Amino acid sequence: MNQRIEKTMSVVMRQKDGSKKELKLIKEELEGPLLEILEKKKIKHPFGCRSGTCGVCRMEIFTGQEALSPPRLSEEDTLKRCEDDPNRVRLCCQVELWWNEGMIVEIAEAPEVKLKDE
Ligand code: FES
Repeated sequence: MNQRIEKTMSVVMRQKDGSKKELKLIKEELEGPLLEILEKKKIKHPFGCRSGTCGVCRMEIFTGQEALSPPRLSEEDTLKRCEDDPNRVRLCCQVELWWNEGMIVEIAEAPEVKLKDE
């Protein structure tokens, strides 16, 4: 029997009610920012500008940081204005996933904060 086993990595989303939703992704699905990947899978995550400036899509990262693209300057600036630690909080509209078979990236919506003006 010739059975193909898909290699995957996972994004696990902690829900506000304490439950978790797991999304298994194959390498070909890692195109574009995480926000777009979630939308293609019909998973809602808050967003505003989609350009890394409003901070509405902030998400906490619990595991799997090494599978995330590093923050660009605009994301760093927004996280700084939110007083976020970029090792724990990222912008879902800016982060890209890097293929890492078996990796589990666990995230949750970050609590709202008021952006500081510079
Ligand atoms: S949607 Fe505005 S920073 Fe991501």
